[in-house]
Amino acid sequence: MIRIILIGYMGAGKTTVGKALAAELGVTFYDLDWFITTRYRRSVPEIFAESGEEGFRELERRMLHEVAEFEDIVLSCGGGTPCFFDNMEYMNSLADTVYLKASPEVLAMHLRMGKGKRPLLEGKSPEDLENYVAEMLVTRESFYSKAKYTLDVSLLDNFAKIQESVQLIRELLKV
Ligand code: S3P
Repeated sequence: MIRIILIGYMGAGKTTVGKALAAELGVTFYDLDWFITTRYRRSVPEIFAESGEEGFRELERRMLHEVAEFEDIVLSCGGGTPCFFDNMEYMNSLADTVYLKASPEVLAMHLRMGKGKRPLLEGKSPEDLENYVAEMLVTRESFYSKAKYTLDVSLLDNFAKIQESVQLIRELLKV
């Protein structure tokens, strides 16, 4: 049975790598943000606006407990998922957790390339972004580093690099 959970900061490539990994392994891919927004029929920015970050974290935890029980899946969770409640311990108790670790510079580049709406980054200028990411990583790193495996990722700007990360995860996890 395959159950892999990808964690890491926003823009680390969790969704991109997760989809490619799931396709290779022939298992189902889930994205926790997508699961939340489908279930509650509200976007992540809408949930933040209506219920605050605290409300979002409650829903996120609840949905994590649903999806993480599924079998033969790759799940990419949100950047904040491991940092609240006992989510990290919970994920480690039932899955192979992989931390996609990238430098603030790479994260900021991915975030500038991406189109996703992220309430925590709202209003940050491109210049502020890298510093903000670096600051937040200081506290988040202590949660992320609890993952069972860590993969250093560099700029994922083409298909070959995404596939390379997929192969490295397969080697790490022997799947
Ligand atoms: C968040 C990351 C987002 C999303 C929400 C909060 C965070 O997911 O869950 O905007 O706290 O880092 P991605 O990491 O998929 O962008």
